[in-house]
Amino acid sequence: MRRTLLLLVTLFSLLHIAAQTPDAKMKTFVAGLMSKMTLDEKIGQLNLVTPGWGVPTGSVVSKGVEDNIRKGRVGGLFGIFGPDKVRQAQTLAMNESRLKIPLIFGLDVIHGHKTIFPIPLGLSCSWDTALIERSARIAATEASADGLCWVFSPMVDIARDARWGRIAEGSGEDPYLGSKIARAMVKGYQGTDLTKDNTVMACVKHFALYGAAESGRDYNTTDMSRIRMYNEYLPPYKAAVDAGVGSVMSSFNEIDGIPATGNRWLLTNLLRTQWGFKGFVVSDYTSVNEMIAHGMGDLQAVSAQALNAGLDMDMVGEGFLTTLQKSLKAGTVTTKQIDDACRRILEAKYRLGLFDDPFRYVNDTRPGKEILTAENRQAAREIAARSMVLLKNDRQVLPLKKSGTIALIGPLANNHTEMLGTWAVSGDNTKSITIQQGIQNVSGNSVSIVYAKGANITDDSAFAKRISPFAKPTEIDARHPDDMIHEAIDVAAKADAVVVVVGEAAEMSGESASRTDLDLPGSQRKLVEALIKTGKPLVVVLLNGRPLALPWLQEGASAILEAWFAGTEAGNAIADVLFGNYNPSGKLTTSFPRNVGQVPIYYNHKNTGRPFEGGDPKFKSDYLDVVNEPLYPFGYGLSYSSFSYDTVLLSETTLRPGQSITASVTVTNKGDVAGEETVQLYIRDMVGSVTRPLKELKGFKKIMLKAHEAVKVDFSITENELKFYNSDLKYAAEPGDFKVFIGTNSRDVKEAAFRLVK
Ligand code: BGC
Repeated sequence: MRRTLLLLVTLFSLLHIAAQTPDAKMKTFVAGLMSKMTLDEKIGQLNLVTPGWGVPTGSVVSKGVEDNIRKGRVGGLFGIFGPDKVRQAQTLAMNESRLKIPLIFGLDVIHGHKTIFPIPLGLSCSWDTALIERSARIAATEASADGLCWVFSPMVDIARDARWGRIAEGSGEDPYLGSKIARAMVKGYQGTDLTKDNTVMACVKHFALYGAAESGRDYNTTDMSRIRMYNEYLPPYKAAVDAGVGSVMSSFNEIDGIPATGNRWLLTNLLRTQWGFKGFVVSDYTSVNEMIAHGMGDLQAVSAQALNAGLDMDMVGEGFLTTLQKSLKAGTVTTKQIDDACRRILEAKYRLGLFDDPFRYVNDTRPGKEILTAENRQAAREIAARSMVLLKNDRQVLPLKKSGTIALIGPLANNHTEMLGTWAVSGDNTKSITIQQGIQNVSGNSVSIVYAKGANITDDSAFAKRISPFAKPTEIDARHPDDMIHEAIDVAAKADAVVVVVGEAAEMSGESASRTDLDLPGSQRKLVEALIKTGKPLVVVLLNGRPLALPWLQEGASAILEAWFAGTEAGNAIADVLFGNYNPSGKLTTSFPRNVGQVPIYYNHKNTGRPFEGGDPKFKSDYLDVVNEPLYPFGYGLSYSSFSYDTVLLSETTLRPGQSITASVTVTNKGDVAGEETVQLYIRDMVGSVTRPLKELKGFKKIMLKAHEAVKVDFSITENELKFYNSDLKYAAEPGDFKVFIGTNSRDVKEAAFRLVK
């Protein structure tokens, strides 16, 4: 009788579980597991550790880490990858820890894992969300083939300050485009089913406002009104949350005087209560501990503050691991807070399918079949070509002819080391294609190349050391700089066309790589100026991770191609563009200033009461020594085709709630070659309860036009495109007059007007 009853109860609970929604099943499973966990084991889940770079051979993880895994005091690892190492660490957790809770394995997969794509700033210039999603999909496939299930990407910090080195890692200055890209990347990484062995959990970062660091100096203070946050800086993070991102990384900076990692308003009120985020929040690298230097108290106090704020996982610093028990005793944190954090991390592991199969992402045959494949490299090549921005092309110097002699000059022209750009942690420099190789590959034997280095990236040995934090210092040639320049001029004299490749070393942008000088380093500027003086048509290829201020180059060069750091296939992709195999279509997502004094500079700024145009010649909002406009505006980029825009036509001049207006424009390719154009739609709210930007991007379409083809492009405008956060942080459109602008960039537009009536 008792046995039958027991059987019935078991059957009933099994049926009950089977009838549950997947979410409820997960909750039941996690609650069951947590009921068996000790406090120490729960806190252990909140601990993310890295065995460090250059994992010692022989042992997967350092001694302390191994021991902590055995004791259930590690939730996840980052910084190791490859089936062998991941298997070894996971085996330790599965065989030797009491509850056999699988570890989560993360890594900075930022613009590709081993097949490296252009830096994110470059990728964003494609304005092609399907392409960007594809790059994230490939990155997820490669990362998961290498044992990883969690990537610290996308980085969606809006940045308007070219001094900040991490501008390279994001999508530029615009919240609308930034949000679309955030969504695309989350979709690319996570797919539709996180339990698949080729999808990974994304981690949107750095929450929040990290890109607005004062003076462009990394980790520096941010201070911003709520209204600016909501309208201009928060939308991409929210877009990632709305797209279902599994995790969020808190940022290093403070917000309203409280470091983001310990900021309850940010991590709980905004993220969880207002936005409904259900995943887990991880700190940035030791950002819990760094709250001590911020002046928030000792390690125990700041760890308690972070947990109270809503932080779930502590990256590297082990403040949670070593102090939360004491704080619990002292009553400064609660059991519920520890439970909530632990539950969220276990739920993430559940969502990844790790409880079904902890070795889901460990498969020895996958790396060989799925990493750096010819197909992935081909995708990287195509994506890189689409990320480049043609800034100048006088007298159609480009595309180059596939004949004659090309002088290839510059410290970045034949350089594997710098091709991948910042944050390519598992990329292999030696697998990258240099520009010289690319030109050879694309032009075959029909072009003869003469090469000269011409200059060092920098002549300053102290600077060379600073920009090579992970390797031996950037090489400085033994020759005198003048001799190198002379050699370059001799080489140029022999050629029909001169291509000079200059810019930054990979680590001159990225984390902790802020600059106050946005020019080329002196050595390279001297070289380029000498080449300009020769009077030969000069094609400049720029490799850099931030907007540079180069008015003198715009003046003197015949053509300028902004190639960013284009990744593994850089050289091939650059050559594809230089020879016209691909007609460039990239558009800037960040304004290029004329000099560093204009920074921060961005297109979607407000008016002042004394605008630049008209009025008293003295008392206006301008500079004495430079115009207000950037050198190249947001949305700018040329093509080997040329596009003309007709008048903007509106289907109606009055918009009512629930209705829409169609704004149309006919775009014609006046050129002789087919080309792609990104048609951009901007809106200005003429009168508001708060001041409104002069222009805001509200739509774009990338179209392909055959030579001489004309295409009508339609945009639908609804009340949604007109909404903004007012001073009560209410998101609504206000009735009144609006202008709509359509054009090839944020400066060169045609306009029309309509009115919203409510
Ligand atoms: C960076 C993060 C990165 C983390 C882990 C930090 O220094 O700010 O973007 O994900 O390190 O490598």
